[in-house]
Amino acid sequence: MTRIGIIGVGYLGECLAEGLLASGEELMLSPRNKERVARLAERPGCKVAKDNKHVVEECDVVFLATEPDKTVSVTQNLPWREGQRAISVAAGLGLAILESTLAPAKAIRSMPIAASRIRKSPSAFCPPDDIAESVLSKIGSAYPVTSEAQFETASIFGAYYGLVYALMEQASAWAKENGLDPAVAQGLAVNMTGAASVAVANQGRQSPGELLSGLMTEGGITAAGHTVLETSGALEQLAKALDASLVRSREINRENKTGAR
Ligand SMILES: NC(=O)c1ccc[n+]([C@@H]2O[C@H](COP(=O)([O-])OP(=O)(O)OC[C@H]3O[C@@H](n4cnc5c(N)ncnc54)[C@H](OP(=O)(O)O)[C@@H]3O)[C@@H](O)[C@H]2O)c1
Repeated sequence: MTRIGIIGVGYLGECLAEGLLASGEELMLSPRNKERVARLAERPGCKVAKDNKHVVEECDVVFLATEPDKTVSVTQNLPWREGQRAISVAAGLGLAILESTLAPAKAIRSMPIAASRIRKSPSAFCPPDDIAESVLSKIGSAYPVTSEAQFETASIFGAYYGLVYALMEQASAWAKENGLDPAVAQGLAVNMTGAASVAVANQGRQSPGELLSGLMTEGGITAAGHTVLETSGALEQLAKALDASLVRSREINRENKTGAR
């Protein structure tokens, strides 16, 4: 069995831990954040390490889930070894920095999301690696990406996931302003989003755009709304939002290279 560890048990680290434990994996956690770690350690198969060094000594695959600006300082000078995988989830932190920090372990960048907790995270990772793929598949679906430039783009879907919540919130707020019961408004906003996603994922043949064309009736209510999204430039604004996330991701990488942050 692959021995898996997590250094940095904050918001995402806890989601990773919950998902991995639910999939039947055994885990070793870094000891900081005592209460959260103690709660997780009540689950079968979960141990708390003495310190971060202990995690690296004991595990074959170690997730690095501290804040991006702390990842290098927290993980450098740990006893990394050949054949080990160190999977960083730090937004923006580039492979060159990770490789020089984590050698001789193999450094991998990945972007799992909070849905790891329910084992539904689509996780891009780079470079492709069978062991990393097998571990990331335990918490959802793993997407190997061959170049770091492509990974930078792929990782922005981690931000897109958050933006989808903003869209749901906006639709829900609109419905409440128009007199709908708040619970019904939220239920419909959330479940329509889920239904759209499940439908496109399950039928697997048509793109989201093709499905949209198929369901829009000329002169109908979806067409009326879609026309506004197109003519107002709202859809292009979404692309601009993703551009902004990509710019920020590159800034984080630069800041960590220069040690400015
Ligand atoms: N949040 C997301 O949905 C998400 C999604 C994808 C990727 N990420 C990435 O995941 C990483 C963590 O994000 P987060 O949102 O989970 O942040 P977070 O809640 O602040 O978690 C970071 C954790 O690292 C701990 N930590 C700091 N120094 C440590 C050390 N020396 N040893 C062990 N643990 C240490 C922190 O403990 P203290 O609180 O005690 O300082 C904190 O619990 C970031 O790199 C982020 O880019 C996050």
